[in-house]
Amino acid sequence: MTVMEPIILGIESSCDDTSAAVIRGRVMLSNVIASQQVHKDYGGVVPELASRAHELNIVPVVSEALSKAGVKASDLSAVAFTRGPGLLGSLLVGTSFAKAFSLALDVPLVEVNHLQGHVLASFIQEEGAPVREPSFPYLCLLVSGGNSQIVRVNGPLSFDILGQTIDDAVGEAFDKCSKMLGLGYPGGPVIDKLASQGNPSRFTFAKPHIPGLDYSFSGVKTSLLYFVRDALKEDPSFLENNKEDLCASFQKTLIDILMDKLVKAAKQTGIRQIAIGGGVSANSGLRARILSEGARRGWQTWLPPLRFTTDNAAMIAVAGYFHFLAGERAPLDLAPLSRC
Ligand code: KG4
Repeated sequence: MTVMEPIILGIESSCDDTSAAVIRGRVMLSNVIASQQVHKDYGGVVPELASRAHELNIVPVVSEALSKAGVKASDLSAVAFTRGPGLLGSLLVGTSFAKAFSLALDVPLVEVNHLQGHVLASFIQEEGAPVREPSFPYLCLLVSGGNSQIVRVNGPLSFDILGQTIDDAVGEAFDKCSKMLGLGYPGGPVIDKLASQGNPSRFTFAKPHIPGLDYSFSGVKTSLLYFVRDALKEDPSFLENNKEDLCASFQKTLIDILMDKLVKAAKQTGIRQIAIGGGVSANSGLRARILSEGARRGWQTWLPPLRFTTDNAAMIAVAGYFHFLAGERAPLDLAPLSRC
């Protein structure tokens, strides 16, 4: 007898990407992402505009995900959705849609924590691609616009946060400093690009001294601010003439901070399987450092393909798959959570 793999629709709407994906088992059949362009002029995500854009996008995005997957709504075994953390108005759109869809189809509703989605992104299987995934336990460096954490992943549904930021997230440091340097939003990709043309050893910025495995990124941001302010007093064209070296040096400082604690966590736990996830895991400098450090220290490293580093519903569907198999079901009266 063949066991039918569940077909799960994943919905992600925690910030400024409306995304829907369909998986069979853990194999991704479609992953549609509508990124919102309305925020570009504001230097950051405007929550009210994000909610409105999700309202416009959610029905066409889900419908495209189903048709690309070649799946009818009536074929679905469950609907998985991001309950939080994120922007409340944005989450409400995805949550309400998921509830209504599961009710109409009479299939189970499964809630997913957005961060667990990032942490489990290595388990998305792609059709025809060889299956390669970490074994448990592994450490995941979870780095995004809202979080910077080192997570010990004991199993698909068992996580321990070993360390986290006590102030800004590393993605926030990229974004705020990009704004400070007049480079626009989101800052990560533009700093990454300019950094690749600059000298990372030219400037040094203050690094935090935080005990344990926690992070702090507000000090390095302030250090850049004062440095640039003083340099501009001497030379008004300093920024324009030095932006590549500034970005390379600033990015190197952030990566050093991230790596110091990750190496410490690997030593403390004895775990040598190291994954990364979240928007900042797209950073080419960070990816290169994980690989070089991994080769030096005998780690097995897991870098998600770039398309799964930023917010996407495929990771939500896959996390939902594990919850679904565990028999977890979300009630229809459940509310989204901006923090969880
Ligand atoms: O995970 P994500 O899409 O959204 C959440 O925060 O949940 O992460 C967005 C963050 C932004 O701060 C953005 O600047 C950063 O990821 N980011 C990058 C890169 N691409 C995106 N940071 C550094 N280098 C990149 N290439």
